[in-house]
Amino acid sequence: MLEWLTHTPYAEWVNQSWGWPLALTVHAFGTATVVGVMFIIGLRVVGLFGPIPYAAMNKLMPFVWIAVACQIMSGITLWMTKPAQYLADGMFEVKFILLLIAIVVTWQFHRSMAREAAAWQVKGRASPRGRKLAIAACLLWAAVTIGGRLTAYLGSLYPI
Ligand code: HEM
Repeated sequence: MLEWLTHTPYAEWVNQSWGWPLALTVHAFGTATVVGVMFIIGLRVVGLFGPIPYAAMNKLMPFVWIAVACQIMSGITLWMTKPAQYLADGMFEVKFILLLIAIVVTWQFHRSMAREAAAWQVKGRASPRGRKLAIAACLLWAAVTIGGRLTAYLGSLYPI
């Protein structure tokens, strides 16, 4: 199965053309957007950037989800070129589990902010649950990023 994936016309095109650098570039911009926008929102929810209304953060959330979609598409493209290698060192699995948890926690956070932003504004601070979810989402996306870099690094150390 993994061998078949590696030899699909798409994976061979990625391996033999601009496909790889293109996918890695999209992946880098996606990482910057997911982590960058999530940290701006997270820092606002824990109390920084006071004048900016909480409701404004809801307008930034679609950028996080669009970037996650780009990461999944560019990530699968990178992964398809050498799936056996990425599965060999185990780091990719750790990253993938963190990624699934990060998506669930970010979804929970998004739902609570969409529901409660107006009440947070009146109170002048986010609810304890909102703050905890924001901090957890930021830490999880940072962990996914570290997992991604280690996937690339270990992949280059132990090519098979
Ligand atoms: C928002 C989610 C994601 C983030 C923040 C992320 C982050 C990263 C980072 C920082 C790197 C290292 C790039 C480099 O410096 O060379 C990386 C590499 C990689 N990512 Fe992701 N990633 C995400 C999602 C995914 C997904 C969903 C997949 C696959 C299904 C994936 C597959 C890979 C692969 C295969 C590499 C290694 C590329 C190489 O060997 O150089 N990533 N990722």
